Amino acid sequence: MHKAKRIILLGATGSIGSNTLEIIQRFPEDFQIVGISAHTNSQALAQIANTFQVPSIALSDESTYQSAIQAELFSKNSQVYGGDHALDQLIQETQADMVVVAIVGARALSPTLKAIQKGFDIALANKELLVLGGSFVTQAVQKNKVRLLPIDSEHNAIFQCLHGNNSKDLKSIILTASGGACRDTPIDQLHTITPEQAKQHPNWSMGAKITIDSATMANKGLELIEARWLFDLQPHQLKVTLHPESIVHSFVHWIDGSVLAQLSPPSMTFAIQHCLFYPDKRTNPKPSLDFDTSFSLNFAPPEPKRYPCLQLAYQALEQEPYGGAIYNAANEIAVQRFIEKAIRFTDIPKIIQHALKHIQVPDTLSLESLLQIDQDTRDYALQIDPKKL
Ligand SMILES: NC(=O)c1ccc[n+]([C@@H]2O[C@H](COP(=O)([O-])OP(=O)(O)OC[C@H]3O[C@@H](n4cnc5c(N)ncnc54)[C@H](OP(=O)(O)O)[C@@H]3O)[C@@H](O)[C@H]2O)c1
Repeated sequence: MHKAKRIILLGATGSIGSNTLEIIQRFPEDFQIVGISAHTNSQALAQIANTFQVPSIALSDESTYQSAIQAELFSKNSQVYGGDHALDQLIQETQADMVVVAIVGARALSPTLKAIQKGFDIALANKELLVLGGSFVTQAVQKNKVRLLPIDSEHNAIFQCLHGNNSKDLKSIILTASGGACRDTPIDQLHTITPEQAKQHPNWSMGAKITIDSATMANKGLELIEARWLFDLQPHQLKVTLHPESIVHSFVHWIDGSVLAQLSPPSMTFAIQHCLFYPDKRTNPKPSLDFDTSFSLNFAPPEPKRYPCLQLAYQALEQEPYGGAIYNAANEIAVQRFIEKAIRFTDIPKIIQHALKHIQVPDTLSLESLLQIDQDTRDYALQIDPKKL
């Protein structure tokens, strides 16, 4: 008998979350949503819980949780977890086959590690998780023999290109980058870019943080570090090319000189559906590439002066095992300060650079020390005076 895959969707109210729900809604026989989470958007979460009859729900913001309980927002038949430990509790107390990790930020680390320990497959959209805790996550994946399926379109493309090939024959991977909102802004005008301008992505519709990260290419920097962990690669094997059309999602370059690519229109639905059904495939109503019309694809090396965050990611890789954690935390705070108009667009890489240079790290690695470095970097990046940058 056909058994529906039991899904926990962390970040159900976000951009990846909504895309995931849209796919699941098209295949009611194939999936059962057994858990969902949001941080503050309780109304939308309640609506999702109702539509999909979800038995377990987590609201990770404590005060939102308290108000939602008071307002009796959720059905009495649902189990609702609230506050700092809500995501961990949801994972701990729910049986599932796959967890879709679609929340933003480093907060994803703890519930994802718990899910892996419980033997659930992971469909991973969140970037910060591997950048911060790549060694712990990949070790746990191997130990517990679960699948780690990348939703991020670039890594999903590489995952698909590697299929059936021997990864020891890989020369390099080339991540494609759209160039983001400021790709045509004169370099000497970048300091004038406002948060509103940086949030206008030319090709993709995504959350605010990741869209600003695309404009600085910190997004690509995070992806380089993520790829290092997902595919066990060395920094010299990680490359980036500018590809304004966002149709080729990445390349794999083999030692015999051939190059494989994965192509689809710029919509996350292709990668999400690939992960949800892996290793099977299903039809997708979204228009795919149309080879009856002419179109062209362009590639160019990214300009280092326009995208200093990219070079800093290689520096972070050299500063393993803490470089990724510092890069990620400094960037998160810098983006938040840019959104609040406390710093300029061009101050974002400067803050990351200062943090990589000044944060003191211990000689040995533990999960506790990693989280401490994450916190130290956040505190440091928050107090940097922009006038001194
Ligand atoms: N969007 C894309 O196309 C895309 C592509 C590749 C990778 N990614 C990665 O996927 C992740 C999600 O991106 P997104 O664009 O979907 O983000 P988003 O639209 O901002 O949604 C974020 C989700 O996480 C929840 N959340 C926010 N802060 C949280 C916290 N402190 N603790 C727990 N949950 C929290 C949000 O809940 P509320 O709604 O209640 O705030 C929401 O459900 C990010 O790591 C991003 O880099 C996204």
